[in-house]
Amino acid sequence: MASSKSIHVEVDGVSYEDDVEPRLLLVQYLRERLGKTGTLIGCDTTNCGACTVHLDGESVKSCTMFAVQADGRKVTTIEGMAQDGRLAPMQEAFHQCHALQCGFCTPGMIMQSASLLKENPNPTETEIREGLEGNLCRCTGYQNIVAAVKSVADGVAYGDSGVSVAESLVEDAESAGVS
Ligand code: FES
Ligand code: FES
Repeated sequence: MASSKSIHVEVDGVSYEDDVEPRLLLVQYLRERLGKTGTLIGCDTTNCGACTVHLDGESVKSCTMFAVQADGRKVTTIEGMAQDGRLAPMQEAFHQCHALQCGFCTPGMIMQSASLLKENPNPTETEIREGLEGNLCRCTGYQNIVAAVKSVADGVAYGDSGVSVAESLVEDAESAGVS
């Protein structure tokens, strides 16, 4: 690959060294090279948010940037959210609140929602809706998605982990370096 560039990127806690073409999109790198197919492509034009991942702790649409731009950085995909076999609080909330139907928007919604609460731990319903404006859902009407996000913000504990939602969010923020 004559014009390839070498990148070093950490994805879901694993380091990768790869040669990539400069035009390769981050979403393509994640899906096609690393097999991270939980990150979806709904539009390829920055509209739907299905490709949302975290880059150094902040949400980005991975179809809007090149893989080379992730060089030296840390990416978290939906597949890196669960820890030790335990769903992340936002994943559990989407499950418990029935915040999905076909599920196509769900990985991106969860990534964006988790990011939203890191920036604003106690959002109003309006702020949640504004924060999710870049993520489209064709099925749910958004009501249960908003309820799921609000429940996490309100500290509703799900499952039997014994770890409170607030505690987990602080841990997530600290590990992402955004606390
Ligand atoms: Fe990236 Fe739709 S696939 S925003
Ligand atoms: Fe189908 Fe959101 S659940 S697009």
